[in-house]
Amino acid sequence: MTKITIAIDGFSSTGKSTVAKQLAKHLGYVYVDTGAMYRAVTYYAIQNGLINKEDFNKETLVYQLQNIQVNFKFNETLGFAEVYLNGVNIENEIRTLEVSSFVSKVAAITEVRRKLVEQQQEMGKNKGVVMDGRDIGTVVFPKANLKLFMTASAETRGKRRYDELISRGDRVKYEDVLKNVQDRDYLDSNREDSPLVKAKDAIEIDNSNMTLDEQFDKILNLVKMALKEI
Ligand code: DC
Repeated sequence: MTKITIAIDGFSSTGKSTVAKQLAKHLGYVYVDTGAMYRAVTYYAIQNGLINKEDFNKETLVYQLQNIQVNFKFNETLGFAEVYLNGVNIENEIRTLEVSSFVSKVAAITEVRRKLVEQQQEMGKNKGVVMDGRDIGTVVFPKANLKLFMTASAETRGKRRYDELISRGDRVKYEDVLKNVQDRDYLDSNREDSPLVKAKDAIEIDNSNMTLDEQFDKILNLVKMALKEI
């Protein structure tokens, strides 16, 4: 059966990964969470003392990129691929507010992007992939068959992210989570290298007032249309 490439971009906590996982499962495609890759590099930088509130040793991080291996392994129980840093599963460690608060700085480094984008292009080269991130439809797969751009109000997104962190047992304040979401959107949209922008041919989905089922049905219809077009 013919397979397509599906690129899902958008602001933080717009539910990109939820719908991407649903789609990948339904279609039997590979799901790639590119945000997890930037988070993994950020986690490495924190663990190795290269980044903290006062200091960011960018040059050393760029030099150490050669020692950083990020990959995914499918977890049958969870039904999606978890992220590994140098062979260690760090799926839980990368979702903390600490990693979230530094990741946009790390993702703005051209050398980091170059390394990860190359790997992402390799992972998606055979199509049959659903990839989510910030630059998938613009930089990683500018010729993707279907491009979606997800949005939702900042408050909706802050609340979703807050609920997610609380359900994991993290002690966080809603105001801090909302601020982080807004700060990241600003940094991700205003960086020089591959800023978050809607690709011209992307379809915008505002899911502030949509249930997960409504969103999935809408997107599945778009996938069916994209499949007819090839
Ligand atoms: O999707 P996420 O919130 O887990 O992504 C974490 C950060 O990584 C996000 O704030 C920006 C960066 N990112 C990026 O610059 N490019 C991507 N393709 C994916 C994520």
